[in-house]
Amino acid sequence: MKFDNPAGKNPIDRMKVVGKAYNRIDGPLKTTGQAPYAYERHDVAEGQLYGYILGSAIAKGRIKSMDLTDAQNAPGVKGVVSTLDHDPMKSNFNTASLFGGPQIQHYHQAIAMVMAETFEQARAAAALIRVDYAREDGRFDLEALAPSAPPADGKEVSYGDFDAAWASAPVKHEARYTTPAESHSMMEPHATIAAWKKTDDGRDHVTIWTSNQMIQWNKMALAGVLGIEQDQVRVDSPFLGGGFGSKLFLRADAVVAALGAKQVGQPVKVMLQRPLIFNNTTHRAATIQSISLGAEKDGKLTAIRHISTNGNLPGGDTEGSTAQTQFLYASPNRYTNLHLAEMDLPEANAMRAPGEAPGMMALEMAMDELAETLDMCPVKLRVINDTQVDPTKPSRPFSERHLVECLQQGAAKFGWPEGGKYPKPGGKRDGEWLTGIGMAAGFRDNLLMKSAARVRLKPGGRLVVETDMTDIGTGSYTILAQTAAEMMGLPLEAVEVTLGDSDFPASAGSGGQWGANNSTAGVYAACVKLREMAADKVGFNAADVDFDEGEIRSGGNAVALSDAAADGELVAEDGIEYGDIGERYKQSTFAGHFVEVAVNAYTGESRIKRMLAVCSAGRILNPKSARSQVIGAMTMGAGAALMEDMAVDTRFGFFVNHDLAGYEVPVHLDIPHQEVVFLDEVDEKSSPMKAKGVGELGLCGVGAAIANAIYNATGVRVRDYPITLDKHL
Ligand code: MOS
Repeated sequence: MKFDNPAGKNPIDRMKVVGKAYNRIDGPLKTTGQAPYAYERHDVAEGQLYGYILGSAIAKGRIKSMDLTDAQNAPGVKGVVSTLDHDPMKSNFNTASLFGGPQIQHYHQAIAMVMAETFEQARAAAALIRVDYAREDGRFDLEALAPSAPPADGKEVSYGDFDAAWASAPVKHEARYTTPAESHSMMEPHATIAAWKKTDDGRDHVTIWTSNQMIQWNKMALAGVLGIEQDQVRVDSPFLGGGFGSKLFLRADAVVAALGAKQVGQPVKVMLQRPLIFNNTTHRAATIQSISLGAEKDGKLTAIRHISTNGNLPGGDTEGSTAQTQFLYASPNRYTNLHLAEMDLPEANAMRAPGEAPGMMALEMAMDELAETLDMCPVKLRVINDTQVDPTKPSRPFSERHLVECLQQGAAKFGWPEGGKYPKPGGKRDGEWLTGIGMAAGFRDNLLMKSAARVRLKPGGRLVVETDMTDIGTGSYTILAQTAAEMMGLPLEAVEVTLGDSDFPASAGSGGQWGANNSTAGVYAACVKLREMAADKVGFNAADVDFDEGEIRSGGNAVALSDAAADGELVAEDGIEYGDIGERYKQSTFAGHFVEVAVNAYTGESRIKRMLAVCSAGRILNPKSARSQVIGAMTMGAGAALMEDMAVDTRFGFFVNHDLAGYEVPVHLDIPHQEVVFLDEVDEKSSPMKAKGVGELGLCGVGAAIANAIYNATGVRVRDYPITLDKHL
């Protein structure tokens, strides 16, 4: 089904099942340990060996030789996969090679895997591998490299005349902001079980049971690196314990499991051990951002410049931290660009809300500073600079944009000072605690991606949904079931959703907060087809038919929906595809973030007292799972603002704090009650679902709101995240 015009009325609008706060269908499975995660799928293939990966001990250089003898002779060992026996394996989605070849591109790059009967045997044997390296010097210090980092190709956005407007702006703010490298630190490590078999035509076929956000991408990627056809690969990933972008792309676990299983002729299972993940996989790039804001005395922005620099391996990409700066505020003159330094640290890549998450941490602190310079309420500053069209292309309106409502409703609900006067920084004290309030806008794009599904109406009337969509802890199972139930006039319990298998129709997958809107729209499309087939089957005119309460109704007549499958199941497959509606309308999501903090006057520790987000994200398909997404993102934002920081050893080139003891993320005690409000809204241009992404919105802006509150409490402006207590001194 092609979607290219505003949706108009459709069966989803009834909102009998969609829009209800159902508990997650997979919740009981997960909380009782019955949801099979990749590493636990003991039943999928007989005789699984345990693999243990050895990572490179140097960051850059070459392996001169590797002595495997002791490892191979160790108890229980069935084989060793060596990087020296394979060519470098890299798909288009990867920057660094995942395995193969003597060349080392980053610390903890996989160089070998031992396979043994037990995990302990494999781990012990891996310690017996002796590697002789030729180490080379690398580039590990972003601060040192940034001044000479060139602009990346094709990232510049410029219109009007920034330089002239800046020169004549009556009010100016200019500052430099930094964000550190961050780790996804999802609960479930990357893991894969791989097994090969011969198909009827005599070709080798590999199945990986793995933990992955994007099934089609990774089927393609694995076929590519193994040099086989896509139809020789199956990827299965029905449950994930989090991803946050770390599982968008193929990783070493899948590659070495496949190679190992082939080598020994037996299934192999591999998990990336936690201390390996931080350097072996990807992370969010550290950024150095400079922002210049010029305004009239009344606060109207006249000049915006934002330049962000990050480092990456040769061939790696930018962290798009200026993305929101193109769209968030009106200004006739604007310049944004991204610079990229070649480095030899591990690969930087997408982490939840890539671009906007660190970009908003800088931009929305800069706006707070400009408001103070103007002696203006920071809410008002944002309101008066609102735009209803894409400022880079004024002929293109936003599909829906309710940032002002988010800010105003948020201010009222939070109790933001009437008339907008900020309390004086450092002026409010409660015993030994300095208290303060802060706010920021939230912004994240809404992306349209094609997505397909198959629906089966079973004899007896149950409905089964099949799509390779993943549920990374987000609630995909539930909202897809709600969508199918709404479309077919069934109760939620009558729908069964099966996900994550590359044998199912290809979905949009889980990434970039595009999963919910697009994958439900794919199920919508399949159900439109099934409705036609069912109506036809029972002799009703498909143009004039209603599906409700388990019945198909037309005129005054009604038959049970199950009648349509009385003599065999009805199967419909279709998907949603988009024309240029995403180009004709700029599609984004918006929020207002409000935070109160207390900072200890003696120790400098920060405590978040309360958090409020008011969100504008189209139709909310399930208020409970949507709220969970937003509070999870707000929690991640608290981590980014206050503690998360991968420390770089600039001599040897690796992330030092590479486990969950050294890399701090928020725990329950760090997080207060979080309130989330969704504006009552539909977006007719996003899809037939009229929904938008919400999974990353809650992260974009919240870190700056916390930082602004800390400034308001202390009067000390810290522009280098995370705002740890030492930075107040
Ligand atoms: Mo997200 S970084 O696209 O999983």
